[in-house]
Amino acid sequence: MVLNEGNPMSFWSRKSRIVLTCAKGVPPCLREEILSLGFPVLSMGIAEVATEGTLEDTLRLNLLIRTGHRVLYLIDSWDAKNPDELYRRMAQINWEDYIPEKSYFSVTSSVNHPTINDSRFANLRCKDAIVDRIKEKTGIRPDSGPEKDKIVIHLYWRKDLCHIFFDTSGEPLSKRGYRMIPLKAPMQETLAAAVILATGWTGNGNFINPMCGSGTLAIEAALIGLGRAPGLLRSNFGFMHLKGFNEPSWKTLRRKIRAEAKDRLNGRIIATDMSQQAVEAAKKNAATAGVDRLIEFGICDFSETPMPGGGGVVTLNPEYGERMGEVEYLKATYKRIGDFFKNKCQGYKGYIFTGNLDLAKKVGLRTRRRLSFFNGPIECRLLEYDLYEGSRSKKGSEAR
Ligand SMILES: C[S@@+](CC[C@H](N)C(=O)[O-])C[C@H]1O[C@@H](n2cnc3c(N)ncnc32)[C@H](O)[C@@H]1O
Repeated sequence: MVLNEGNPMSFWSRKSRIVLTCAKGVPPCLREEILSLGFPVLSMGIAEVATEGTLEDTLRLNLLIRTGHRVLYLIDSWDAKNPDELYRRMAQINWEDYIPEKSYFSVTSSVNHPTINDSRFANLRCKDAIVDRIKEKTGIRPDSGPEKDKIVIHLYWRKDLCHIFFDTSGEPLSKRGYRMIPLKAPMQETLAAAVILATGWTGNGNFINPMCGSGTLAIEAALIGLGRAPGLLRSNFGFMHLKGFNEPSWKTLRRKIRAEAKDRLNGRIIATDMSQQAVEAAKKNAATAGVDRLIEFGICDFSETPMPGGGGVVTLNPEYGERMGEVEYLKATYKRIGDFFKNKCQGYKGYIFTGNLDLAKKVGLRTRRRLSFFNGPIECRLLEYDLYEGSRSKKGSEAR
Protein backbone atom coordinates (compact mmCIF):
# COMPACT_ATOMS: atom_id res chain seq x y z
CA MET A 1 0.00 0.00 0.00
CA VAL A 2 1.41 3.40 -0.93
CA LEU A 3 -0.24 6.64 0.04
CA ASN A 4 0.88 8.46 -3.03
CA GLU A 5 -1.87 8.90 -5.57
CA GLY A 6 -4.44 11.68 -5.93
CA ASN A 7 -5.02 14.54 -3.57
CA PRO A 8 -2.14 14.60 -1.08
CA MET A 9 -4.49 15.46 1.81
CA SER A 10 -6.73 12.47 1.10
CA PHE A 11 -4.19 10.20 2.77
CA TRP A 12 -5.87 11.19 6.06
CA SER A 13 -8.99 9.24 5.08
CA ARG A 14 -7.28 6.24 3.54
CA LYS A 15 -7.69 2.92 5.35
CA SER A 16 -4.56 1.01 6.31
CA ARG A 17 -3.24 -1.40 8.90
CA ILE A 18 -2.73 0.16 12.32
CA VAL A 19 -0.45 -1.58 14.80
CA LEU A 20 -0.68 -0.70 18.49
CA THR A 21 2.39 -1.72 20.47
CA CYS A 22 2.36 -2.51 24.21
CA ALA A 23 4.30 -4.27 26.96
CA LYS A 24 4.49 -8.08 26.89
CA GLY A 25 1.50 -9.61 28.65
CA VAL A 26 -0.74 -6.64 27.82
CA PRO A 27 -2.12 -7.68 24.34
CA PRO A 28 -5.28 -9.37 25.72
CA CYS A 29 -6.23 -6.12 27.56
CA LEU A 30 -5.32 -3.98 24.55
CA ARG A 31 -7.37 -6.25 22.29
CA GLU A 32 -10.44 -5.72 24.48
CA GLU A 33 -9.91 -1.97 24.45
CA ILE A 34 -9.62 -1.88 20.64
CA LEU A 35 -12.78 -3.96 20.21
CA SER A 36 -14.70 -1.83 22.70
CA LEU A 37 -13.87 1.26 20.63
CA GLY A 38 -15.46 -0.42 17.61
CA PHE A 39 -12.27 -1.27 15.71
CA PRO A 40 -11.62 -4.79 14.35
CA VAL A 41 -8.71 -6.86 15.63
CA LEU A 42 -6.69 -8.31 12.75
CA SER A 43 -3.98 -10.04 14.75
CA MET A 44 -2.35 -10.18 18.16
CA GLY A 45 1.39 -10.62 18.78
CA ILE A 46 3.59 -10.86 21.83
CA ALA A 47 3.70 -7.07 22.30
CA GLU A 48 1.26 -5.65 19.77
CA VAL A 49 -2.27 -5.81 18.42
CA ALA A 50 -3.15 -4.93 14.83
CA THR A 51 -6.33 -3.26 13.67
CA GLU A 52 -7.23 -1.16 10.64
CA GLY A 53 -8.52 2.32 10.05
CA THR A 54 -7.66 5.71 8.62
CA LEU A 55 -5.05 8.16 9.77
CA GLU A 56 -7.97 10.20 11.15
CA ASP A 57 -8.90 7.19 13.28
CA THR A 58 -5.49 7.32 14.95
CA LEU A 59 -6.57 10.56 16.67
CA ARG A 60 -9.27 8.69 18.60
CA LEU A 61 -6.98 5.76 19.31
CA ASN A 62 -4.26 8.04 20.69
CA LEU A 63 -6.76 9.82 22.93
CA LEU A 64 -8.64 6.80 24.25
CA ILE A 65 -6.33 3.80 24.44
CA ARG A 66 -5.06 3.19 27.99
CA THR A 67 -2.79 0.16 27.67
CA GLY A 68 -0.99 0.72 24.33
CA HIS A 69 2.35 2.46 23.88
CA ARG A 70 2.31 3.60 20.29
CA VAL A 71 -0.21 3.83 17.46
CA LEU A 72 1.59 2.97 14.22
CA TYR A 73 -0.14 3.71 10.91
CA LEU A 74 1.22 1.66 7.99
CA ILE A 75 2.47 3.76 5.06
CA ASP A 76 3.99 1.06 2.89
CA SER A 77 5.49 -2.46 2.88
CA TRP A 78 8.05 -3.98 0.54
CA ASP A 79 10.82 -6.55 0.26
CA ALA A 80 14.33 -5.29 0.92
CA LYS A 81 17.38 -7.54 0.90
CA ASN A 82 19.87 -4.87 1.96
CA PRO A 83 20.14 -1.22 3.07
CA ASP A 84 20.42 0.02 -0.54
CA GLU A 85 17.07 -1.54 -1.42
CA LEU A 86 15.65 -0.02 1.73
CA TYR A 87 16.92 3.43 0.68
CA ARG A 88 15.75 3.14 -2.93
CA ARG A 89 12.15 2.31 -2.06
CA MET A 90 12.04 4.81 0.81
CA ALA A 91 13.06 7.55 -1.64
CA GLN A 92 10.13 6.64 -3.93
CA ILE A 93 7.54 7.56 -1.29
CA ASN A 94 6.07 11.04 -1.74
CA TRP A 95 7.37 12.31 1.60
CA GLU A 96 6.89 15.91 0.43
CA ASP A 97 3.11 15.27 0.56
CA TYR A 98 3.20 14.29 4.25
CA ILE A 99 6.09 16.17 5.82
CA PRO A 100 5.82 19.97 5.78
CA GLU A 101 8.78 22.00 4.57
CA LYS A 102 10.85 23.36 7.45
CA SER A 103 9.73 20.56 9.74
CA TYR A 104 11.57 18.14 11.99
CA PHE A 105 11.30 14.38 11.93
CA SER A 106 12.90 11.41 13.60
CA VAL A 107 13.27 7.76 12.56
CA THR A 108 12.93 4.83 14.98
CA SER A 109 13.13 1.16 14.13
CA SER A 110 12.81 -2.44 15.14
CA VAL A 111 15.19 -4.32 12.85
CA ASN A 112 16.34 -7.91 12.73
CA HIS A 113 18.13 -8.38 9.44
CA PRO A 114 21.46 -10.07 8.60
CA THR A 115 22.77 -6.99 6.75
CA ILE A 116 22.23 -4.70 9.76
CA ASN A 117 24.45 -4.88 12.85
CA ASP A 118 23.27 -1.61 14.35
CA SER A 119 19.69 -0.45 13.85
CA ARG A 120 20.93 3.15 13.85
CA PHE A 121 22.39 2.47 10.41
CA ALA A 122 18.95 1.45 9.09
CA ASN A 123 17.48 4.60 10.64
CA LEU A 124 20.15 6.67 8.92
CA ARG A 125 19.39 5.15 5.50
CA CYS A 126 15.69 5.92 6.01
CA LYS A 127 16.46 9.45 7.14
CA ASP A 128 18.76 10.05 4.13
CA ALA A 129 16.09 8.80 1.72
CA ILE A 130 13.45 11.13 3.20
CA VAL A 131 15.73 14.18 3.30
CA ASP A 132 17.07 13.57 -0.24
CA ARG A 133 13.56 13.13 -1.59
CA ILE A 134 12.16 16.28 0.01
CA LYS A 135 15.24 18.34 -0.93
CA GLU A 136 14.95 17.18 -4.55
CA LYS A 137 11.21 17.99 -4.75
CA THR A 138 11.05 21.23 -2.78
CA GLY A 139 14.61 22.53 -2.58
CA ILE A 140 14.27 22.59 1.21
CA ARG A 141 16.06 20.21 3.56
CA PRO A 142 13.96 19.14 6.56
CA ASP A 143 15.65 18.80 9.93
CA SER A 144 15.96 15.42 11.61
CA GLY A 145 17.31 14.03 14.86
CA PRO A 146 16.45 11.91 17.90
CA GLU A 147 13.64 14.03 19.43
CA LYS A 148 10.23 12.38 19.20
CA ASP A 149 8.11 15.45 19.77
CA LYS A 150 7.37 16.10 16.08
CA ILE A 151 7.02 13.65 13.15
CA VAL A 152 8.18 10.10 13.89
CA ILE A 153 8.68 7.52 11.15
CA HIS A 154 9.02 3.91 12.31
CA LEU A 155 10.71 1.09 10.37
CA TYR A 156 9.93 -2.55 11.13
CA TRP A 157 12.21 -4.92 9.17
CA ARG A 158 12.13 -8.71 9.63
CA LYS A 159 13.51 -11.31 7.24
CA ASP A 160 13.31 -9.38 3.95
CA LEU A 161 10.04 -7.61 4.66
CA CYS A 162 10.03 -3.89 5.52
CA HIS A 163 7.06 -2.03 6.96
CA ILE A 164 7.21 1.73 7.25
CA PHE A 165 4.82 3.52 9.61
CA PHE A 166 3.92 6.93 10.90
CA ASP A 167 4.30 6.67 14.67
CA THR A 168 1.24 8.82 15.23
CA SER A 169 1.87 8.93 19.00
CA GLY A 170 5.34 10.50 18.81
CA GLU A 171 6.31 10.19 22.46
CA PRO A 172 4.97 6.85 23.81
CA LEU A 173 1.47 6.96 25.28
CA SER A 174 2.82 5.72 28.62
CA LYS A 175 4.06 9.28 29.05
CA ARG A 176 0.72 10.68 30.14
CA GLY A 177 2.39 13.78 31.53
CA TYR A 178 1.07 13.61 35.12
CA ARG A 179 3.92 11.80 36.81
CA MET A 180 6.21 14.70 37.59
CA ILE A 181 7.58 12.87 40.67
CA PRO A 182 8.16 9.17 39.85
CA LEU A 183 10.00 7.98 43.04
CA LYS A 184 11.46 4.46 43.32
CA ALA A 185 10.24 1.60 41.08
CA PRO A 186 7.12 3.29 39.71
CA MET A 187 4.81 1.23 37.57
CA GLN A 188 4.46 2.38 33.97
CA GLU A 189 1.13 4.18 33.49
CA THR A 190 0.01 1.89 30.64
CA LEU A 191 0.89 -1.22 32.70
CA ALA A 192 -1.03 0.14 35.70
CA ALA A 193 -4.06 0.65 33.44
CA ALA A 194 -3.71 -2.93 32.12
CA VAL A 195 -3.51 -4.29 35.68
CA ILE A 196 -6.70 -2.43 36.66
CA LEU A 197 -8.57 -3.52 33.54
CA ALA A 198 -7.45 -7.11 34.24
CA THR A 199 -9.03 -6.89 37.72
CA GLY A 200 -12.33 -6.05 36.01
CA TRP A 201 -12.71 -2.82 38.03
CA THR A 202 -14.42 -0.18 35.92
CA GLY A 203 -15.59 2.23 38.60
CA ASN A 204 -18.17 0.21 40.51
CA GLY A 205 -17.20 -0.59 44.08
CA ASN A 206 -14.14 0.66 45.92
CA PHE A 207 -10.57 0.67 44.65
CA ILE A 208 -8.09 0.37 47.48
CA ASN A 209 -4.36 0.78 46.84
CA PRO A 210 -2.11 0.33 49.86
CA MET A 211 1.65 0.77 49.08
CA CYS A 212 0.62 3.34 46.46
CA GLY A 213 4.13 4.77 45.87
CA SER A 214 3.83 7.59 43.34
CA GLY A 215 0.12 6.86 42.96
CA THR A 216 0.07 5.40 39.44
CA LEU A 217 -2.52 2.69 40.15
CA ALA A 218 -4.85 5.03 42.05
CA ILE A 219 -4.57 7.74 39.37
CA GLU A 220 -5.20 5.30 36.51
CA ALA A 221 -8.14 3.87 38.48
CA ALA A 222 -9.63 7.36 38.81
CA LEU A 223 -9.25 7.95 35.06
CA ILE A 224 -10.84 4.56 34.30
CA GLY A 225 -13.65 5.06 36.84
CA LEU A 226 -14.55 8.42 35.30
CA GLY A 227 -14.15 7.16 31.74
CA ARG A 228 -11.73 10.04 31.21
CA ALA A 229 -9.50 9.58 28.16
CA PRO A 230 -5.81 9.46 29.15
CA GLY A 231 -4.81 11.26 25.96
CA LEU A 232 -6.63 14.40 27.12
CA LEU A 233 -3.73 14.89 29.53
CA ARG A 234 -1.34 15.39 26.61
CA SER A 235 -1.13 18.28 24.22
CA ASN A 236 1.34 16.83 21.73
CA PHE A 237 1.15 13.78 19.44
CA GLY A 238 3.11 12.82 16.35
CA PHE A 239 0.13 13.09 13.94
CA MET A 240 -0.28 16.81 14.74
CA HIS A 241 2.87 17.62 12.75
CA LEU A 242 1.85 15.93 9.49
CA LYS A 243 0.62 17.94 6.50
CA GLY A 244 -3.14 18.38 6.42
CA PHE A 245 -3.64 17.97 10.19
CA ASN A 246 -7.05 19.45 10.87
CA GLU A 247 -6.74 21.32 14.15
CA PRO A 248 -10.38 22.48 14.42
CA SER A 249 -11.73 18.93 14.06
CA TRP A 250 -9.08 17.70 16.57
CA LYS A 251 -10.32 20.27 19.08
CA THR A 252 -13.92 19.24 18.44
CA LEU A 253 -13.02 15.59 19.01
CA ARG A 254 -11.24 16.42 22.29
CA ARG A 255 -14.24 18.45 23.49
CA LYS A 256 -16.63 15.63 22.61
CA ILE A 257 -14.53 12.99 24.37
CA ARG A 258 -14.05 15.25 27.40
CA ALA A 259 -17.81 15.77 27.66
CA GLU A 260 -18.41 12.00 27.70
CA ALA A 261 -16.50 11.52 31.00
CA LYS A 262 -18.30 11.31 34.34
CA ASP A 263 -17.35 13.69 37.13
CA ARG A 264 -18.15 11.37 40.04
CA LEU A 265 -17.36 7.80 41.02
CA ASN A 266 -19.69 5.22 42.50
CA GLY A 267 -17.09 3.88 44.92
CA ARG A 268 -14.14 5.28 46.86
CA ILE A 269 -10.50 5.27 45.81
CA ILE A 270 -8.12 5.05 48.77
CA ALA A 271 -4.34 5.21 48.35
CA THR A 272 -1.90 4.81 51.26
CA ASP A 273 1.82 4.37 51.77
CA MET A 274 4.03 4.32 54.83
CA SER A 275 6.32 6.88 53.20
CA GLN A 276 5.27 10.49 53.64
CA GLN A 277 7.42 11.42 50.64
CA ALA A 278 5.56 8.87 48.48
CA VAL A 279 2.13 10.14 49.54
CA GLU A 280 3.13 13.75 48.88
CA ALA A 281 4.40 12.80 45.42
CA ALA A 282 1.24 10.78 44.71
CA LYS A 283 -0.94 13.74 45.71
CA LYS A 284 0.98 16.07 43.40
CA ASN A 285 0.81 13.58 40.53
CA ALA A 286 -2.93 13.13 41.09
CA ALA A 287 -3.38 16.92 41.07
CA THR A 288 -1.50 17.15 37.76
CA ALA A 289 -3.80 14.45 36.37
CA GLY A 290 -6.82 16.39 37.68
CA VAL A 291 -8.09 13.54 39.88
CA ASP A 292 -6.77 14.49 43.35
CA ARG A 293 -10.26 15.27 44.66
CA LEU A 294 -11.31 11.68 43.88
CA ILE A 295 -8.54 9.91 45.81
CA GLU A 296 -8.37 9.69 49.61
CA PHE A 297 -4.70 9.58 50.58
CA GLY A 298 -3.24 8.38 53.86
CA ILE A 299 0.16 7.73 55.43
CA CYS A 300 0.19 4.36 57.22
CA ASP A 301 1.38 0.80 57.23
CA PHE A 302 -0.57 -1.06 54.52
CA SER A 303 -2.34 -3.13 57.18
CA GLU A 304 -3.92 0.04 58.63
CA THR A 305 -5.51 1.07 55.33
CA PRO A 306 -9.24 1.71 55.84
CA MET A 307 -11.38 -0.87 54.02
CA PRO A 308 -14.88 0.55 53.51
CA GLY A 309 -17.85 -1.79 53.30
CA GLY A 310 -19.37 -2.54 49.94
CA GLY A 311 -16.41 -4.49 48.53
CA GLY A 312 -14.42 -3.79 45.43
CA VAL A 313 -10.79 -4.35 44.53
CA VAL A 314 -7.69 -4.09 46.73
CA THR A 315 -4.39 -4.02 44.80
CA LEU A 316 -0.86 -3.95 46.19
CA ASN A 317 2.41 -3.59 44.33
CA PRO A 318 5.03 -4.41 46.99
CA GLU A 319 8.75 -4.28 46.36
CA TYR A 320 10.22 -7.52 44.98
CA GLY A 321 13.59 -7.22 46.72
CA GLU A 322 16.92 -7.59 44.98
CA ARG A 323 19.35 -7.91 47.90
CA MET A 324 19.37 -10.79 50.39
CA GLY A 325 18.61 -8.70 53.47
CA GLU A 326 15.68 -7.07 51.67
CA VAL A 327 14.26 -10.44 50.70
CA GLU A 328 14.30 -11.67 54.31
CA TYR A 329 12.46 -8.52 55.42
CA LEU A 330 9.99 -8.77 52.53
CA LYS A 331 9.11 -12.39 53.38
CA ALA A 332 7.53 -11.08 56.56
CA THR A 333 5.80 -8.26 54.63
CA TYR A 334 4.26 -10.69 52.12
CA LYS A 335 3.07 -12.91 54.98
CA ARG A 336 1.49 -9.85 56.61
CA ILE A 337 -0.26 -9.01 53.28
CA GLY A 338 -1.87 -12.47 53.49
CA ASP A 339 -3.03 -11.71 57.05
CA PHE A 340 -4.34 -8.30 55.96
CA PHE A 341 -6.32 -9.90 53.11
CA LYS A 342 -7.70 -12.57 55.45
CA ASN A 343 -8.57 -10.33 58.37
CA LYS A 344 -9.55 -6.98 56.84
CA CYS A 345 -10.48 -7.44 53.19
CA GLN A 346 -13.41 -9.84 53.23
CA GLY A 347 -15.82 -9.17 50.38
CA TYR A 348 -13.06 -7.72 48.18
CA LYS A 349 -11.09 -9.19 45.30
CA GLY A 350 -7.43 -9.00 46.34
CA TYR A 351 -4.51 -8.52 43.93
CA ILE A 352 -0.76 -8.53 44.33
CA PHE A 353 1.48 -7.41 41.46
CA THR A 354 4.96 -8.80 42.00
CA GLY A 355 8.08 -9.94 40.18
CA ASN A 356 9.07 -12.40 42.91
CA LEU A 357 7.00 -15.57 43.09
CA ASP A 358 8.96 -17.03 45.99
CA LEU A 359 7.93 -14.04 48.05
CA ALA A 360 4.34 -14.35 46.79
CA LYS A 361 4.16 -17.86 48.26
CA LYS A 362 4.54 -16.30 51.71
CA VAL A 363 1.06 -14.75 51.30
CA GLY A 364 -0.29 -18.18 52.17
CA LEU A 365 -3.65 -17.83 50.40
CA ARG A 366 -5.03 -19.71 47.46
CA THR A 367 -4.66 -17.77 44.19
CA ARG A 368 -7.66 -17.78 41.91
CA ARG A 369 -5.86 -16.50 38.80
CA ARG A 370 -2.31 -15.63 37.85
CA LEU A 371 -1.71 -13.29 34.92
CA SER A 372 1.72 -12.72 33.41
CA PHE A 373 2.90 -9.16 32.66
CA PHE A 374 6.30 -7.70 31.94
CA ASN A 375 7.45 -4.66 33.88
CA GLY A 376 10.32 -3.69 31.55
CA PRO A 377 12.49 -6.83 31.34
CA ILE A 378 11.12 -8.39 34.56
CA GLU A 379 8.44 -11.04 34.23
CA CYS A 380 5.79 -10.30 36.85
CA ARG A 381 2.52 -11.83 37.94
CA LEU A 382 -0.77 -10.28 38.87
CA LEU A 383 -2.07 -12.68 41.51
CA GLU A 384 -5.79 -12.69 42.22
CA TYR A 385 -7.30 -13.81 45.52
CA ASP A 386 -10.97 -14.22 46.35
CA LEU A 387 -11.33 -12.89 49.87
CA TYR A 388 -14.46 -14.52 51.16
CA GLU A 389 -15.90 -13.94 54.59
CA GLY A 390 -13.52 -15.98 56.83
CA SER A 391 -11.20 -16.50 53.84
CA ARG A 392 -10.07 -19.99 52.93
CA SER A 393 -6.41 -20.70 53.62
CA LYS A 394 -4.23 -22.38 51.02
CA LYS A 395 -4.93 -25.99 50.25
CA GLY A 396 -2.15 -27.27 48.08
CA SER A 397 -2.38 -24.31 45.67
CA GLU A 398 0.26 -21.64 45.92
CA ALA A 399 1.46 -18.81 43.73
CA ARG A 400 3.34 -20.18 40.78
C1 LIG B 1 7.13 -0.85 44.32
S1 LIG B 1 6.62 0.57 45.23
C2 LIG B 1 5.04 0.90 44.54
C3 LIG B 1 5.14 1.64 43.26
C4 LIG B 1 3.82 2.17 42.76
N1 LIG B 1 2.99 1.11 42.17
C5 LIG B 1 4.05 3.29 41.75
O1 LIG B 1 3.61 3.19 40.61
O2 LIG B 1 4.72 4.26 42.10
C6 LIG B 1 6.26 -0.07 46.80
C7 LIG B 1 5.76 0.96 47.79
O3 LIG B 1 5.40 0.27 48.99
C8 LIG B 1 5.68 1.10 50.10
N2 LIG B 1 5.76 0.23 51.29
C9 LIG B 1 6.69 -0.71 51.57
N3 LIG B 1 6.41 -1.32 52.74
C10 LIG B 1 5.27 -0.78 53.20
C11 LIG B 1 4.45 -0.99 54.36
N4 LIG B 1 4.77 -1.89 55.26
N5 LIG B 1 3.31 -0.26 54.49
C12 LIG B 1 2.98 0.70 53.58
N6 LIG B 1 3.73 0.95 52.47
C13 LIG B 1 4.85 0.22 52.29
C14 LIG B 1 6.97 1.79 49.73
O4 LIG B 1 7.10 3.02 50.46
C15 LIG B 1 6.80 2.01 48.22
O5 LIG B 1 6.28 3.29 47.96
